[in-house]
Order: sequence, then structure tokens, then C-alpha cells
Amino acid sequence: MRTTSTIAAAAGVLAAGASAQNYLGFNSGATLADRSAKFKADFKAEFTTAQGLENAPGTFNAVRLYTNIQAYSTDDPIQAFEAAMETNTSILLGVWASGTTDISNELSALNKAVTKYGTKFTDLVIGMSIGSEDLYRVSVTGIKNKSGVGNSPSAIVGFIGDFKKAFANTALAKTPIGHVDTWDAWTNGTNKPVIDAVDWVGVDEYPYYESGKGNGIKNSGVLFDRAYDATVAAVGGKPVWVTETGWPSTGQDWDLAVASVDNAKYYWQEIGCRKLFNKVPTFWYNLRDSNPDNEMKFAITSNLATKPLFDLVGKGHGYIWVPSVVG
Ligand SMILES: *[C@@H]1O[C@H](CO)[C@@H](O)[C@H](O)[C@H]1NC(C)=O
Ligand SMILES: *[C@@H]1O[C@H](CO)[C@@H](O)[C@H](O)[C@H]1NC(C)=O
Ligand SMILES: *[C@@H]1O[C@H](CO)[C@@H](O)[C@H](O)[C@H]1NC(C)=O
Repeated sequence: MRTTSTIAAAAGVLAAGASAQNYLGFNSGATLADRSAKFKADFKAEFTTAQGLENAPGTFNAVRLYTNIQAYSTDDPIQAFEAAMETNTSILLGVWASGTTDISNELSALNKAVTKYGTKFTDLVIGMSIGSEDLYRVSVTGIKNKSGVGNSPSAIVGFIGDFKKAFANTALAKTPIGHVDTWDAWTNGTNKPVIDAVDWVGVDEYPYYESGKGNGIKNSGVLFDRAYDATVAAVGGKPVWVTETGWPSTGQDWDLAVASVDNAKYYWQEIGCRKLFNKVPTFWYNLRDSNPDNEMKFAITSNLATKPLFDLVGKGHGYIWVPSVVG
């Protein structure tokens, strides 16, 4: 199988080039916490705050979106695009791929944006994720946790083909394509066709939710690294982007995990500053909460204030961070 492995290695090298820049950003859903649509002004307020966060250990000037479609429309482009253009925010695009056999409305919304805005928009696009946690939702854990309708690896691979075909002759033809999922979806061999189909792999990691594994805050770094390393080992040299991670500041305890501002700060230092920021493309969860179904609140700031809930300051290079707050 020499030929196959040579091709795989070459593809890995090419794809690695695409992620040479270590983007820093947050995730942004299409709706607010009251389920109303986010409009351009809402996105613009987020992106402006992200870039202006006090003592941030880098410039948070990228955003990960979950859909191309403006909330409650059929296929209007999401207004985050215009907000990104007005704030020079890099965009990791997302196509919502769960519970459907067809992503044509997603592709139509994106195509409208490409036609309407041209390179002012496409120059900001740093990647495309086809799907978000779809494979987790159909996994044993996802089903047990009633995580909702997902999708199969073959459906995701099919959608990747649909996107490539639809945008082959556009400025987005060379957009690095990924898929975002939980770490244990990537280590599940049945999902390998998705790994083979992408340029980069997006992993969502929440040590907070890892009940039964010693998920107290002081062990969060160990659990994060273990899951991250398992993902890297499973994906055969493809670049790994951390597309969601964070620790809630309020909400119920989850086994040994305690939601608190002190623990959110510890996690920011231990995972963000030590491991990820400016080293791995990272989309923190989150700047603003927008999932009303999640009792845990992950926002690092309240009402988009540029002064966060805790000091974001990163310790200098080579500095071993010793936590002053534990628990
Ligand atoms: C936009 O941001 C990029 C970095 O993401 C930077 O290289 C570029 O100079 C910025 N452009 C403007 C007009 O500020
Ligand atoms: C592995 O992945 C397949 C396809 O996504 C899924 O059906 C199966 O439940 C997963 N296995 C586990 C143990 O979650
Ligand atoms: C899902 O279920 C697993 C195993 O039962 C548990 O460890 C984990 O905390 C749950 N995750 C979420 C997000 O509910």
C-alpha cells in the first residue's frame, strides 16, 4: 500500500500549510439566548468586543459560524458575513448538516454571499466545516445523552462532495474543508471516511463533561491533552483545529466538575494559554451564550463588555503557570 500512504502523506503536508496561521476566535450561533435571530448589529457587537478584550493573550479576530443561513430565513446569507467584512474578522464557515439529506439551502445562501460581496467576503474565509457534532449525535454516548438527530459518516462525506462541486469554479474553490466533532467521534474507526475526506479536523473538547474520569478542574489539563492527543493520533497527520472548548462559569456541578468563574479562569490559563493560543487554530466557547437549552453558561464576559469575568492575561513564554485558585 505504498502508493496510498505516499498520497496520504502528501495530502497531509499540503493541508498542514493551510492551517499555518493559528487563528484565534469564538463560536457564534445564529440566534440569541431568547431564540430571536441575530442581526448584523448583534454580530458586529460580538466581533468588536472579541477584538477589544482587555489583556487578551492574542487578537481574537476570527469567528466560527454554524450555518450560512440567516436565522428564520430559507436561504438568505447570514448577516454575520457583513459584520465580519466591517470588522475584518476571519470566518470559519459552517454548514448545518444534522437531520437532513440535503444541504442545498446552505449552499445557496453561501453562493448568494459570494456573488453579492465578492473577494471582500471570500478573502476573509479561512475554512469550511461541513457539519458540527453530527457523528457524536449518532454515537452511543450521543444517543444515551439524547443529543438530538445527527448524521452518518457517509452523509457528511456526500455533503463535502456537494460543497466542492458547487464551489469548484468560485473564489472558495481552495477553501480548506473540515468537519467538526467530539474527540471520541474521531477515534471511532467507523468514521474514518470523514477523516479521509477532509483537509483538517475540528475537535470539540469539554473535560467538564467527562464524568467518571476525574473531571475536577485540576485534572482538566490531563483530560484535555489525552483527548487532543488521541484525536491527533487518529487523524493521520491532518491538521487539528480546536473548534470548541471552554469551562462554564455558572451551572450545575457535573460529577467532579464545578462551574465557577475561578475555574473558568483556571481553564483559560491551563488550556488556552498553555496549550492552544497562538499554537493551534482555536475557537473558544464562548464570548456570548446563545444556547437556551444549556443551563451551563460559558460566556467569558457579560453583555459583551470588553472587561471579561476574569483577567485573560497570558503568562509569558516559558513561564510555568502555577494556579493560585483551585477547586
Ligand atoms: C485584516 O486582518 C488581517 C489579519 O487577519 C491583516 O493582515 C490585515 O492587514 C487587516 N486588514 C485591515 C484593512 O485592517
Ligand atoms: C461509531 O460511529 C458510528 C458511525 O458514526 C456510530 O453508529 C457508532 O455508534 C459509533 N460507536 C460508538 C461506540 O459510539
Ligand atoms: C454523555 O454521556 C456520558 C456517558 O454516559 C457522560 O460521561 C457525559 O458526561 C455526557 N455528556 C454530555 C454532554 O451530556
